[in-house]
Amino acid sequence: MLTWPRAESTLIGNGTEEMHFAVVSLFPEMIGTVGQFGVVGRALQRNLVTLAVENPRDHTSDAHRTVDDRPYGGGPGMVMKFEPVAAALETAKGQLPEGCPVVYLSPQGRVFDQAMANRFSNLPGLVLLAGRYEGIDERLIDSHVDEEVSLGDYVLSGGEIAAMAVIDAVVRLLPGVLGDDESATQDSFVEGLLDCPHYTRPEVVAGKRVPEVLLSGDHAGIARWRNKQALGRSFQRRPDLLRKLDLTDEQQTLLDEYLKEQRQ
Ligand code: ADE
Repeated sequence: MLTWPRAESTLIGNGTEEMHFAVVSLFPEMIGTVGQFGVVGRALQRNLVTLAVENPRDHTSDAHRTVDDRPYGGGPGMVMKFEPVAAALETAKGQLPEGCPVVYLSPQGRVFDQAMANRFSNLPGLVLLAGRYEGIDERLIDSHVDEEVSLGDYVLSGGEIAAMAVIDAVVRLLPGVLGDDESATQDSFVEGLLDCPHYTRPEVVAGKRVPEVLLSGDHAGIARWRNKQALGRSFQRRPDLLRKLDLTDEQQTLLDEYLKEQRQ
């Protein structure tokens, strides 16, 4: 099993606050890249998170290290075999503390969102199963998978990128991972809305000025403007998000103002 951070002693399930990820994948090196950069990289270095990868190919017994076979009933493509995936999952689970569900990444799953990321961030860990080919023998899903999760309504060539997206979205929510000045509390979707626009120096670039209120030092005015932008952009770009919210009178006023300003 490949593990990050690399350490001689057992790094998983030691009763501390960190979160543990184990990914079952035919491409372990792909998964390693999520831990090499940025926020997840730092969290691994600081031992706030551990990441292990288990390859089903290491759980085969034939000379060709076969992990897939033709589908019963015919049709294109190959299907991942029960036994090597089951053995890899059991090894991966054995490395993690109790209470870590097995999540299979597949287009048939429930679509991953911020609420799901929040729920996962409260778990001791996750076993993420990344499929390849046409999918995995359904009997493995029945017997070993707790939850099926999709990244969205499109087909990737494997679950690895989806597993990495889940790891990234969850790790940034863990206590101590983001500094105060990059806190996840300001993120898009935290209040069910898109984020407001952001600007940095210079004040004028390509003939465009930073919105005046952001230069005013009026903190209440800035907060009001940001809320208004978040509401207005969500209304225009993601009306589905707004329909799920019960807007307060104040939010409705801000949205009306935004739409009026847009018409001017
Ligand atoms: N594997 C292939 N497509 C996928 C998707 N949309 N989400 C998660 N895993 C996948």
